[in-house]
Amino acid sequence: MEEVAAEQTLQVASTPEYPAVGERIGAVVYFSSQSENTARFIANCQLEDEGIDVFRIPVKPHEPPLNVREPYILVVPTYGGGSAHKAVLPQIKRFLNDPANRAGIRGVIASGNTNFGDAFCMAGDIISQKCKVPFLYYFELMGTAEDVQKVKQGVLDFFHNHPE
Ligand SMILES: Cc1cc2nc3c(=O)[nH]c(=O)nc-3n(C[C@H](O)[C@H](O)[C@H](O)COP(=O)(O)O)c2cc1C
Repeated sequence: MEEVAAEQTLQVASTPEYPAVGERIGAVVYFSSQSENTARFIANCQLEDEGIDVFRIPVKPHEPPLNVREPYILVVPTYGGGSAHKAVLPQIKRFLNDPANRAGIRGVIASGNTNFGDAFCMAGDIISQKCKVPFLYYFELMGTAEDVQKVKQGVLDFFHNHPE
């Protein structure tokens, strides 16, 4: 009985870090490590004020898994130091390995550092290929003011053009 209850709890959608204000039009799921570049970028976008639920993938393994049950755009930094094998962090793979989470991905935005040359933002290419969704945008580190504006507008346009 307890096991069933635990399983059912896991299936419940997680609470967004920043819940949409007003009418909800879509969602963004992001990952950011302890350096928090992506977290700062997402905070600057203030997507919740535009009706976007913003969810954060847990950094530490002991944290409860994130369950997203609505269509979303994934925003992730690239890791691996140039190795395609390690470009997508385990926390992000764990999130996407849950079929219920994977079902909601509609596009990917990746970040990185141009110092990594050909591997710049490689996580976006990998996730786009594996999940068969468009690689919508890329930016460096915590992004510029222009990146913030473009992502904000791009996310809104995307959900207006793909209502579900
Ligand atoms: C160990 C390590 C490996 C990285 N590997 C890559 C890489 O292969 N390609 C890339 O574009 N950026 C790479 N980066 C840069 C990160 O993607 C970048 O610093 C990002 O902004 C980190 O986001 P976060 O602070 O939200 O975790 C790497 C950074 C670190 C620390």
